[in-house]
Amino acid sequence: MTTNQNTLCFPETGKRRVEILDEMDAARAGDWDWFSLNNLTASYYGGPEVAEVAKEAFVKHIGDNVVHQTGLHPSVRKYETDVIAMVKDLFNAPENAAATITTGGSESIVLALKTARDRARDQKGIISPNIIVPQSAYAVFNKLSHFLGIGVIQMQESPDYRADVAGMEAAINENNIMLVGSCPPFPLGVVDPIAEIAGLAQKHDLWMHVDACIGGFMLPFARELGEDVPDFDFQVPGVTSMSADFHKYGYGYRGCSILVLRDEALVKWQGFAANNWNAGDYYSKNTAGSRNSGPIASTWAVFNFLGRDGFHRVTADIIKGRKAFCKGIEAIEGLEILGTPQGPHFAFKAEDLNILAVADGLMAKGWAINIGSKPDAILLMLSCHHYQIADTFLADLREVVDAVKQGSLKARGDEEVYGIY
Ligand SMILES: Cc1ncc(COP(=O)(O)O)c(C=O)c1O
Repeated sequence: MTTNQNTLCFPETGKRRVEILDEMDAARAGDWDWFSLNNLTASYYGGPEVAEVAKEAFVKHIGDNVVHQTGLHPSVRKYETDVIAMVKDLFNAPENAAATITTGGSESIVLALKTARDRARDQKGIISPNIIVPQSAYAVFNKLSHFLGIGVIQMQESPDYRADVAGMEAAINENNIMLVGSCPPFPLGVVDPIAEIAGLAQKHDLWMHVDACIGGFMLPFARELGEDVPDFDFQVPGVTSMSADFHKYGYGYRGCSILVLRDEALVKWQGFAANNWNAGDYYSKNTAGSRNSGPIASTWAVFNFLGRDGFHRVTADIIKGRKAFCKGIEAIEGLEILGTPQGPHFAFKAEDLNILAVADGLMAKGWAINIGSKPDAILLMLSCHHYQIADTFLADLREVVDAVKQGSLKARGDEEVYGIY
């Protein structure tokens, strides 16, 4: 037995189940319920019935491994096959498109980057590749490019908060392998001009990746409801690949996402094979190895439970909330919504007012919110139930803004960390 005064040692004996559960409840005392109405961060709640169906499906497969889908769990293969077919239909992908279910947006994106990198190496001889991303592209493009030895050319912010297409064209160079657009990016909720970026990609024979991790299962339904959403899927000719997260607005439990490639011929640069292993030949299209089957089971269940009309209902409620929030915020002097939000979230900044002090005030009143920078802003991410509390939030916001204007509520020092994430 090791004795160490400072660190916890491995338990010598087990505890009773009830003790453990009590301890966990105590540990969770300060946690938020992810579906709380006051939680305006990335909660992705599809309502109580959706959450229950997803949970039941998840629990059914809680001990199953996706990797064993051909042998032990053929049901999981069915879920993957069905969901891939549904997504190809939703994203207007060609018949010969290929798709891979992954553990999350990051895995979908790293696979797209790796596939583009290896194709460019083989077909164009590019050995020092780089990608060009808008300023608002999710930071995983930087992280994963770092892992893969790919350089990143990141645009500066643009006046309408969308990708700066002219800047992207000016940045194209002989080592470029990919252009990226997001629909929408995390900080802003403003969809990038995907068709223009894809047009550039075609003109310069480049890979175009659409990061639809957030909007993939919200924007198609928003369009069908008549909302103004620009083209963003495989209907746009130059789009090569798309990432979309089931564990966001697809309402499956984490972690589950999909990477769709326009042409199955690209898969040869995605997969990895090793044939010198004493357990047999190894082949995988994923970076992850063992994966819980719960996430894909919950996604399959939710897609079938909601169907197109159910997704219309939850999406309509998100949009109703977004419009109510935005209208109320725009009516408050000194606050400004950034760009024209088209997704489930949006950000607002302040003129002549410290927005971080406003954020502080809102958090003190019990709201969970995100903070953005460049410019400093408050970011609200809505689910289908949030329209119910728009008036309460706006009343609190007005009160906090008044307090900041009057000087009774001040920003904390720069050394303090604002916001939660
Ligand atoms: C726009 C966007 N892309 C990619 C990702 C990465 O997804 P994940 O956290 O599932 O890896 C996120 C995560 O929030 C995102 O918002």
